[in-house]
Amino acid sequence: MAASLIGTSARTALRSGASATQRAAGVAGLTFARGKATLPDLPYDFGALEPSISGKIMELHYKNHHQTYVNSYNQASEQLQEARAKGDIAAQIALQPLINFHGGGHLNHSLFWENLAPKSSGGGEPPSGALSKAINETYGGLENLQGKINTALAGIQGSGWAWLVRDKQTGDISIKTYANQDPVVGQFEPLLGIDAWEHAYYLQYQNRKAEYFKAIWEVINWKTVEKRFSA
Ligand SMILES: [Fe+2]
Repeated sequence: MAASLIGTSARTALRSGASATQRAAGVAGLTFARGKATLPDLPYDFGALEPSISGKIMELHYKNHHQTYVNSYNQASEQLQEARAKGDIAAQIALQPLINFHGGGHLNHSLFWENLAPKSSGGGEPPSGALSKAINETYGGLENLQGKINTALAGIQGSGWAWLVRDKQTGDISIKTYANQDPVVGQFEPLLGIDAWEHAYYLQYQNRKAEYFKAIWEVINWKTVEKRFSA
């Protein structure tokens, strides 16, 4: 999948020099330090996505929600290692839902931050090249794709995500929704994810989630999507 593991040196390099666009396109998914998952660097300031997403939401979403997924995933991973060491298969199986939920939460949010960019760094600029061609061929244009993703988002009952994905075998792109924090794994690769959990918008949009789904397109980083599509 597009997400990959990067080491300390790569993160340091990213912190020290790369532009926001390079960082957003180049960083992918999970980061680890000494075998533990860690919160990835956010490639822009909390308030940089306003007015589409308020700085307060970004701060809470990143520092509280995402951090909790990281912490809980690490805790479940440690328990899994202990169960493995003991040869306790039942305990290992019992931990899988926690690994899926918190590991998925960490992976999904890591990909999500990279899917966003301030307008000053290219947020909202339409895709080009092979991705643009695939969107036109599959959906008849970017606006149609956005409309279909927004419809998918609106149809999510409870918490979940909508993703533009690529089939690993056929290369075709399609829209999928996932419940809770179920990650995009297996047959499909995640290209673009939009968080439909209430914590992603409620502080700013309350129950007007359609406004959030509309506004977020203003800060979508299509360069990241292109990069994942071409990987
Ligand atoms: Fe979230």
